[in-house]
Amino acid sequence: MLDKENTLLITGGAGFIGSNYARMALERHPELRVVVYDKLTYAGNLQNLTDLAFRFGPRYAFVQGDIADPEAVEAAFRQHAVDAVVNFAAATHVDRSILGAEEFIQTEVFGTYTLLEAARRHGVERYLQVSSDEVYGQVLQGAADEGHPLTPRNPYAAAKAGGDLLALSYHTTHGVPVLITRGCNTFGPYQYPEKVVPLFVTNAIDDQPLPLYGDGRQEREWMYVLDHCAAIDLVLRQGQPGQVYNVGTGEHQENIALTRLILGYLEKPESLIQHVQDRPGHDHRYALDSAKLRALGWRPERSFEEALAETVAWYRQHPEWWRPLKSGEFLEYYRRQYGERLKG
Ligand code: DAU
Repeated sequence: MLDKENTLLITGGAGFIGSNYARMALERHPELRVVVYDKLTYAGNLQNLTDLAFRFGPRYAFVQGDIADPEAVEAAFRQHAVDAVVNFAAATHVDRSILGAEEFIQTEVFGTYTLLEAARRHGVERYLQVSSDEVYGQVLQGAADEGHPLTPRNPYAAAKAGGDLLALSYHTTHGVPVLITRGCNTFGPYQYPEKVVPLFVTNAIDDQPLPLYGDGRQEREWMYVLDHCAAIDLVLRQGQPGQVYNVGTGEHQENIALTRLILGYLEKPESLIQHVQDRPGHDHRYALDSAKLRALGWRPERSFEEALAETVAWYRQHPEWWRPLKSGEFLEYYRRQYGERLKG
């Protein structure tokens, strides 16, 4: 499937992973048409896609819309004769879900439902739900495979788990050809600077403090964005409908070690690290068993340190991309999230 002249709807395609994936899909599959559907919230950015119209002409289209708006979704499906969907659209920042969860539930749960209904009505060939290792909750030892219990511990993770379960139910009940990928922490170009990597890189460039939560000993599994996109592309084509695929590299880092690496690449002093009050309910560790995906033939192409060094260099070379983002709404959020923490 998807090797003929098919149309792929990429929801949330103006965001970080979605925009990297839209570019990869167009580059890799010369027959494919891509429609990016995005609400353009604070984290969706047309600047992430500026090259696509120019490079790919009529094979690429953009539609502004919300996945939780049934009429807009239906109009996009009708107008573009959608054959397959990859759903990246989500509110994704854990700290924001702690400040207020409504948007997360609306997008991850109601939005997913809206897309699944459209996928069912239009009989799509594939529906891929992009999810997260956070649905398993913290994994203090070993690694979670796809059968691990879902024990999400923050509102973002719980909303993502809700979307996953709904998607699987549409496969079982309605026969929608649903696939789910659950990715580990992802970094690379075009990531909104609220997430730890771009936040710490851009703060360090400006000699601003890096607010490290608690003792910084929490552990994450890290992956370069293009490796994540390649896994999604493979599962879309070769995955088994009704199945979940973990996407992890096995590259684990404590936050403090990650922070020191970033400072090292930028030749900035460790005195910029400021330990601040921890995130409530902070998951201590994530770890994925990705054997099922590897059996399909996927391997990460970049080592963690090589990819991190390249990513740091990208942010250093592209202040015109991130500097305008660190203004307005971002500064309001930053004050709310870090104001008291940084004073303490
Ligand atoms: O694991 C996949 C998930 O990774 C995705 O599903 C989420 O959408 C994505 O946001 C990310 O979640 P995290 O909460 O792990 O990412 P974040 O970049 O917010 O934080 C990474 C680690 O760094 C986490 O242990 C918290 C810590 N941290 C984060 C920020 C923003 C800090 O110590 N200070 C900070 O200011």
